Amino acid sequence: MERAFDTVILDNSEESVKRAAELLKRGEVVGMPTETVYGLAANALDPAAVEKIFIAKGRPQDNPLIVHVAGFDMIAPLVTEIPALARRCAEVFWPGPLTMIMPKSELIPKTTSGGLDTVGIRMPSNKTARRLIRECGFPIAAPSANLSGSPSPTKASHVFNDMDGRIPCIIDDGSCAVGVESTVIAFEGDKIRLLRPGFISREEMSEIAEVIVDKGVTEAVASDAAVASPGMKYKHYSPKADVTIVRGDDESFEVFAMEMAGQGVWFMTFGKEDTEAKGANVIPYGETDEEQAARLFDVLRELDEVGAERVYARCPRETGVGLAVYNRLLRAAGFKVIEL
Ligand code: TXA
Ligand code: MG
Repeated sequence: MERAFDTVILDNSEESVKRAAELLKRGEVVGMPTETVYGLAANALDPAAVEKIFIAKGRPQDNPLIVHVAGFDMIAPLVTEIPALARRCAEVFWPGPLTMIMPKSELIPKTTSGGLDTVGIRMPSNKTARRLIRECGFPIAAPSANLSGSPSPTKASHVFNDMDGRIPCIIDDGSCAVGVESTVIAFEGDKIRLLRPGFISREEMSEIAEVIVDKGVTEAVASDAAVASPGMKYKHYSPKADVTIVRGDDESFEVFAMEMAGQGVWFMTFGKEDTEAKGANVIPYGETDEEQAARLFDVLRELDEVGAERVYARCPRETGVGLAVYNRLLRAAGFKVIEL
């Protein structure tokens, strides 16, 4: 793509927010921080602006964008119905990393919804994001601010790496606290269907309603399949290296690592295990589910920087936020899992 801008990184001051809002009002695309990952923001109600997001990312047109609001008051015009369960979830989890799919109104262009009759809406807890939305006065469509297929950006520098020359500015608000994208849910009567796991966990939502975990969360979906959430069918989060998930206890992983160690081979471990002392290339990605979520995408980008060719990643837990980490890692690994 031709360089259209000299991309600048702005701080999170009032002045920067105003400057970014001016660009958004003129139909441009800017890099926006959220608590999950950085987003590529545009006016959700302006198809021409939204079109620019798809071009900057190289994103397939049928993959819908999440619409971000600054308060519950902004939702009513965007949907034809707010299910009672959605109100309840909003009370408990908003502002925060939860996206709810609802039937869209005429106000949401098909470009934003990827041709669907529904729209995914979330209210971020990141204050800079909410200030920016309020300053604009319209809802903001924002996918993760990576090139399509690359790991989601959790730092402004990640956005810059992918978007330099493609967008006018990025607001830098530090590292994203959560590190994996929002939980995406749809409503089926009095049940919640979990389409993409995130920081708001299945267990937490189960306190409100029965949660059905969509098959696409842990299983590969054919690229021509009709799926509840189009994002499921695309290859995602891939570093250049060939990634494989390895499920096993500390001891068996240690033995496996010693066997496989070699040039260009890297191990994504939980902590700084003995593996490293024995000469293997190790990048730890965290002991707890939350640490793993916060570090995962940064580590996937680091692996590219160190020139990793083959990566063996220790399998995360599948409970709590661990399910989100597992879901992203499965996609990075093309669903390759070794059981020790
Ligand atoms: O945390 C997040 O959600 C970040 C930040 C920037 O807010 N955004 C994000 O957007 O992850 P994106 O576009 O990378 O992922 C959106 C996911 C995709 O898998 C998409 O298919 C799904 O949500 N999605 C969006 N609208 C949908 C809809 N109406 N129906 C079904 N799935 C939808
Ligand atoms: Mg994304």
